[in-house]
Amino acid sequence: MSEAKTTSYVTTPIYYVNDRPHLGHVYTTMVADVIARHHRLRGDDTFFLTGTDEHAAKIVDAAKAQGLSTQECVDRHSAAFQEVFARLEMTHDDFLRTSEERHKEKVTRYMRELLESGDVYPGQYVGWYDPGQEEYVTESRAKAQDYVGEISGKPLERREETNYFFRLSAFRNTLLEMYEARDREGAPFVKPPARKNEILNRIKEAEDVPISRTGSGGWGIPIPGDETQTIYVWIDALFNYLTTVDVDERRHYWRCGAVHFIAKDILWFHAAIWPALLIALGRRPGYEWVNLPRQVYSHSYWVSDSGVKMSKSLGNFLDPGAIDAYVEEFGLDALRYFLATRGPLGVSDSAFNPELFTEVYNADLANTFGNACSRVTNMIGKYFGGRLPEPGPAVPAAIDLEAVAEAAVEKVTAAFDRLDLKRAGEGALELVRAVNGYVEQTEPFRMAKDEARLPEVGTVLGRCLEALRIASVLLAPFLPDRCAEFWRRIGQADLAEALANRGTGDLAAWARWGRLLPGTVIEAGKPLFPRYQK
Ligand code: MSP
Repeated sequence: MSEAKTTSYVTTPIYYVNDRPHLGHVYTTMVADVIARHHRLRGDDTFFLTGTDEHAAKIVDAAKAQGLSTQECVDRHSAAFQEVFARLEMTHDDFLRTSEERHKEKVTRYMRELLESGDVYPGQYVGWYDPGQEEYVTESRAKAQDYVGEISGKPLERREETNYFFRLSAFRNTLLEMYEARDREGAPFVKPPARKNEILNRIKEAEDVPISRTGSGGWGIPIPGDETQTIYVWIDALFNYLTTVDVDERRHYWRCGAVHFIAKDILWFHAAIWPALLIALGRRPGYEWVNLPRQVYSHSYWVSDSGVKMSKSLGNFLDPGAIDAYVEEFGLDALRYFLATRGPLGVSDSAFNPELFTEVYNADLANTFGNACSRVTNMIGKYFGGRLPEPGPAVPAAIDLEAVAEAAVEKVTAAFDRLDLKRAGEGALELVRAVNGYVEQTEPFRMAKDEARLPEVGTVLGRCLEALRIASVLLAPFLPDRCAEFWRRIGQADLAEALANRGTGDLAAWARWGRLLPGTVIEAGKPLFPRYQK
């Protein structure tokens, strides 16, 4: 494991505020939150950004339908996102709203640069538009989609308008070369790899794209020098990742290479238009610091049982009320763990299956991690009056917990580096299972019947608790609350204190064998994850 402290910048999409948040938004934000917490645990200087995308044309319509002014509407819905994320204890370092002055001012500046370089130029658009996705659609794609929106299923609109265009076609080769170079370096620009070919084929034929619109009724950011045109919402939105950190004390986060979490519906914007915009801007004097993101991670969808994408326009979503019910019954950590390890991070969609939820909860959390913690702390209570004993003579066992722990740390950090959260969770649980195996092999409960062998029982239980402590450190990004409680019970409250309020940890030191001191008061307490019975 690398012990070097690095800088890390993690983002989520900024969400449209035409309606309430749902499981899909919560999912991406939670995944990014788990990653951000892991980086903080490693001691990295970490910046985690989320926010709301407020200049969409459909927001003007939604406000009208709800009898609100546009500003009132975005204020209300953005507050709903902030409230849900706060309630779910997301640890974002900033929440960007595109209607904020700090954002508008920077976007105007970037746009001025692009107009001056000629990468943005006035032209005439004749073609298709998908109002559901707020997206311009080329003739060939429109035809392939039977002239209806890919997600909404509603008819595409024919558009003829004077707009400003971004010279995307001029960046085809630069983009393709960038993709190749990243592959050669073993750090692909887009993940998972299955999504890449489609993007490359589209880049090869990329035409210039309209980036402004008229008739927005003054809602949005005007094109500098042409008040009749508003910057197209997608261009405005993509720039959020840059505007938020384009201040002296944060620019180093951009430089370190952002990792953008998104879902597959918005991959094209992030995988082609966004890097091209950045390359164009980075060529301007004073913007040499604008490099490209490290990676765009495009996950799949949560779908309903019938396989339809959960979305607010389709009204089939697990809304905050339903999410709260899970938190109430199982705890926030259980929801985080389930979403992060069993969600659609790969190329297949997932249906939110309540039976699978309880199965995973019982198997991984109640019966494995929670049970091992109870078992070991209870035995320390029973045989040693709740104090960690001095280690006694060595006890022969096939399982070497210290070696298993060391390997687990390696595996989990490597899995986090690959953004493979399922594997990261499994890597930590393997260590917990090794503790159970070691207890079966050494049988401390049998040894304890013979008082002369208590020192050996002390050896065994000390090793078990040390291994569980290391497992809990690895699991903390998934289970921050329950791990903090476990740490308190085993005299490690300083770990939780260091991580509180977006603090940083020291994984290398915390995962080293031997941090637990004999004599420490150990409290068994109630089960960390009570078994769920229907
Ligand atoms: N505003 C744009 C994004 C601009 S980013 C510069 C947008 N907003 S959105 O509100 O529609 O949110 C889309 C994102 O929400 C997806 O990319 C994904 O991260 C998340 N999800 C929305 N529905 C989802 C599912 N059903 N399943 C998984 N994630 C989902 O697009």
